[in-house]
Amino acid sequence: MAITIKSSSEVEKMRIAGKLAASVLDMITPHVVVGITTEHLDQICHKFIVDDLGAIPAPLNYHGFPKSICTSINNVVCHGIPGEKKLKKGDIINIDITVIKDGFHGDTSKMFIAGKSNVKATRICKIAQECMYLGIGLVKPGIHLGEIGQVIGAHAHAQHCSVVRDYCGHGIGQGFHEEPQVLHYDNGKAKQSPILEPGMTFTIEPMINLGGYQVVTSRLDGWTVTTKDRSLSAQWEHTILVTETGHEILTLRAEENI
Ligand code: MF3
Ligand code: CO
Ligand code: CO
Repeated sequence: MAITIKSSSEVEKMRIAGKLAASVLDMITPHVVVGITTEHLDQICHKFIVDDLGAIPAPLNYHGFPKSICTSINNVVCHGIPGEKKLKKGDIINIDITVIKDGFHGDTSKMFIAGKSNVKATRICKIAQECMYLGIGLVKPGIHLGEIGQVIGAHAHAQHCSVVRDYCGHGIGQGFHEEPQVLHYDNGKAKQSPILEPGMTFTIEPMINLGGYQVVTSRLDGWTVTTKDRSLSAQWEHTILVTETGHEILTLRAEENI
């Protein structure tokens, strides 16, 4: 399957799906407090997505994923499964929301710090967000997709952090994970990567580690990805549309002043 170019009516559906996904992060924010379980966060999001938004939580049963959202705490890089674990003071948690509305996907995630934050937690969350915004800032017709990874990798390394290589951003639309793969690091082949065109939609979702880039997947649940060295990891994600003149962040929240 090649990279799909969305028609204007498809773009309109992507806008709606993006807005709804963003609204789930806004809705859940006051609930992300010390003592709540990730299972409870999942229940609240599931009910909101289904009952209030009339949408579908895309992760549920996706390749067998058992819950409606991903909750990834501290050294968990991504795909954490909500469960009975309670948030502790200073925990960092990524909540990743994907909804399907009218056949189209909106995919977005952000970091939260439970209770009082500490220096390391604040730092890794901030650097990962800067990486995402730097990547988004480049997006316009005519650039190579691989330039996104170059700028993200450069910033992460300047901050003595590493970029996860085993997971990447992705085209998105009627499919959850479409072509192309959006690398968040420089693989040395940016010039051979696709050139962006108006109507492309994809995610930028860098996973940035305080230590090394290597990750391991849980042999117990088959999903939970952690840093090999147990260092903290942070991730932010937006769904982006390439426009005639630049880009539109389809999952933008009011709290973001960019
Ligand atoms: N939302 C994740 C992404 O950004 C994918 C989660 S797949 C799941 O691509 F199965 F773990 F939910
Ligand atoms: Co994604
Ligand atoms: Co996601």
